[in-house]
Amino acid sequence: MSGTLELHGLSRRFGAVAALDDVSLAIPQGQMVGIIGRSGAGKSTLLRLLNRMAEPSAGAIRFGGQEVTALRGQALRDWRTGCAMIFQQFNLVQRLDVLSNVLVGRLNHRRGVLARMDALLGRFTAEERAMALEALERFDLLPTALQRAETLSGGQQQRVAICRALMQQPRLILADEPIASLDPQNARTVMDALRAVNRQDGITVLVNLHHLDTAREYCGRIIGMSAGRVVFDGPPEALTEARIAQVYGAAAPRAPLEPEPAAVPAGLAPNWSVA
Ligand SMILES: Nc1ncnc2c1ncn2[C@@H]1O[C@H](COP(=O)(O)OP(=O)(O)O)[C@@H](O)[C@H]1O
Ligand SMILES: [Mg+2]
Repeated sequence: MSGTLELHGLSRRFGAVAALDDVSLAIPQGQMVGIIGRSGAGKSTLLRLLNRMAEPSAGAIRFGGQEVTALRGQALRDWRTGCAMIFQQFNLVQRLDVLSNVLVGRLNHRRGVLARMDALLGRFTAEERAMALEALERFDLLPTALQRAETLSGGQQQRVAICRALMQQPRLILADEPIASLDPQNARTVMDALRAVNRQDGITVLVNLHHLDTAREYCGRIIGMSAGRVVFDGPPEALTEARIAQVYGAAAPRAPLEPEPAAVPAGLAPNWSVA
């Protein structure tokens, strides 16, 4: 299922604090959107509202014409399944093997208590196992399938989390600082995986990023937030020094990822497209 994600006057207050303040956006299916801003700008709140982990104080979310903010019961569970979250800390079951961690992503697809119980007992179908192995293979993780998650590097663990997200067959991936605890090399493998999922599967990716340069490199559209408001929305090339100052106030955190070992051949250069 595809569609445009629309936010209409979305706000979320915590007492006197406006964590999100009257945000309106339209995000067509298939964009890779980097959300930047200082700590406390409202980036995490935005993602939490989108997958209905938190409720707005005002405003609405629509997707493909559907009123997401009105969904209840099974329809709400289906929406959450379609919005896979990726967290800074990976959220894997450390003592469980990699393949099982990925299969956990299928749990939400099961309807009814008995079907879920089956999955909890490790009774997945051959198709589900094949799907999980395929995802692992895609991100060079197949050799780790039977290892405990805790034996993997941070970059590998985050890619396992991406595989688990793919098992939900999501229409959106919401990644909240997915590379914040990784070294530059691991960070790159994770950003490359998110880019692959976006480009090859057409999944919309919204990614909160601490470093401006990562957002510039990977995201065709950048949304800059400050004090709960959107203060920039455009392609990286429109993000001038003056606009950066609006987003961050003072100096922006810019530590770059390590350069790639080889330049991308001209014919394979990424096709940045922004609506
Ligand atoms: N559960 C909460 N209770 C109270 N205040 C919160 C809560 N979640 C976020 N906030 C506040 O909302 C603002 C935005 O927070 P957050 O969305 O986490 O920002 P960011 O992810 O950009 O760092 C901050 O001022 C934060 O303290
Ligand atoms: Mg945050």
